[in-house]
Amino acid sequence: MSIDLARARADTPAVARLLHFNNAGAGLMPAPVLETVIEHLHLEAEIGGYEAAAMAAARHERVYDSIATLLNCHRDEVALVENATVAWQLAFHSLQLEAGDRILTGEAEYASNYISFLQVARARGVAVAVVPSDEDGALSVAALERMIGPEVKLIAVTHVPTNGGLVNPAAAIGRLARAHRIPFLLDACQSVGQLPIDVDAIGCDMLSATGRKYLRGPRGTGFLYVRRALLERLEPPFIDLQGATWVAPDRYELRPDARRFENWENYFAGQLGLGAAIDYALAWGLHAIAARIVPLAESLRSRLGAIPGVTLRDLGTQRCGIVSFTVAGQEARDLVAGLRRQHINISASGPSSTLLDALARKLPDLLRASVHYYNSEAEVDRFAGAIEKIAKAS
Ligand SMILES: Cc1ncc(COP(=O)(O)O)c(C=O)c1O
Repeated sequence: MSIDLARARADTPAVARLLHFNNAGAGLMPAPVLETVIEHLHLEAEIGGYEAAAMAAARHERVYDSIATLLNCHRDEVALVENATVAWQLAFHSLQLEAGDRILTGEAEYASNYISFLQVARARGVAVAVVPSDEDGALSVAALERMIGPEVKLIAVTHVPTNGGLVNPAAAIGRLARAHRIPFLLDACQSVGQLPIDVDAIGCDMLSATGRKYLRGPRGTGFLYVRRALLERLEPPFIDLQGATWVAPDRYELRPDARRFENWENYFAGQLGLGAAIDYALAWGLHAIAARIVPLAESLRSRLGAIPGVTLRDLGTQRCGIVSFTVAGQEARDLVAGLRRQHINISASGPSSTLLDALARKLPDLLRASVHYYNSEAEVDRFAGAIEKIAKAS
C-alpha cells in the first residue's frame, strides 16, 4: 500500500497546527494509538489495574505477535521493556564479558551504549575498539573484517545514529558477525518504524528499540529482540519473578523465552498502545513508509542545502528521515526554541550524544529535523522558508 497522505494526516490531528519534524525525538501518536492508551487507563480507573490487565490479557499477548511480524522473528524472542536503553543494557550486560574480551563498535555509537562499554572496560578489563568509518562516513565493513579476531566477543553497532541521517550497513555487518560466530547487538532505536527491519536478513542476534520515535507509540515503551539460539545462554543482569520462577529455597529457573528480560510491573496502557502503533505501521507497510520518508528527507536536504549559511551534516550514502544541519551564526538550541514559538518542532543533538563522531568531525550542537510519512511537501517548503529567514537574519 502506498501512503494516503490525507488519511495519515487526518489520523494525526495535531498536524493542523503544528509542523512536527521531531519524529526522531518522539513521533506524533496517531489517533488509534492514543485511543488505545486512554481506553486502557480509563479501564484501570474504572475496574482496577489488575482487573484491567486481566481483561486486556489477550490483546497484550498480541503485542508480541505484532513485534514478531515487524521484525520477522518469533514472539518468544521478544521482551517488552521501558525504552531502548533498558533493552540495550539488558542485552549487553547479560553477555558478561570478561578481561581480554574485545567489543567492536562504530564511530556513530550512541553515548549511553559507549558509557556502558567504558563501564565494563574499567570494571573488568574488557577492551573496546572503534571500527573506522569509510570515506562516506558509514561504518567500514572492510575495516571491521580486518579487526575481527578470537578475542572479539561482541559487535555492537548503532543502525541510525542519534545525530544524523546515516544508515549503517547492518546486513553486511551481520554477515561478518555470523560468519565469525560473534554476537551482534544492533541499536535500532532510530531505524525501527522508518525502515523495514528483518532480523534474519540483517543477521543480528539482539536488537533494541523504542516505541515513541518512528513507531509513533507512547513514551516509556520499548522492546528487546534476542535470537533463540543465543537466548538460552544469556543470564539477564536483573531478574525478578517475571523473568524467573523461585522453585526451591536455593534455586530459581529462568523463563525459556525472551521474557526472562522483563520485570513484573509494567505500563500496560503504554504497551497496548505500542502494539496499536506497530499494527498501524504494519497496515501502511514498512516499505511504503520508507519509500515516502527517504525522498521527503532528501527533498528537505536539497532545500536546506541551497540556503546560504546552512551546512548539511549527514553522513553516508544510504540515508533516512533524519536531516542534520547547522546554520552559521546560530546556536542550535536557540534556533530550536525560536522555531517552537512558531509551532515548528525539531531538536538539537549535542556532541556528547555521539562523542566519537563529534570529535572526529569537530561538530558543534547539530540541528536535527526528522520527517515522517505523515509530513507533507508543503511542510518541507514552509520549514525551508523559516530556516532561510533565520539564516538571512544572522
Ligand atoms: C541511537 C539511539 N539509541 C538509543 C537511544 C535511547 O532510546 P531511549 O530513550 O528509548 O532509551 C536513542 C535516543 O535518542 C538513540 O538515538
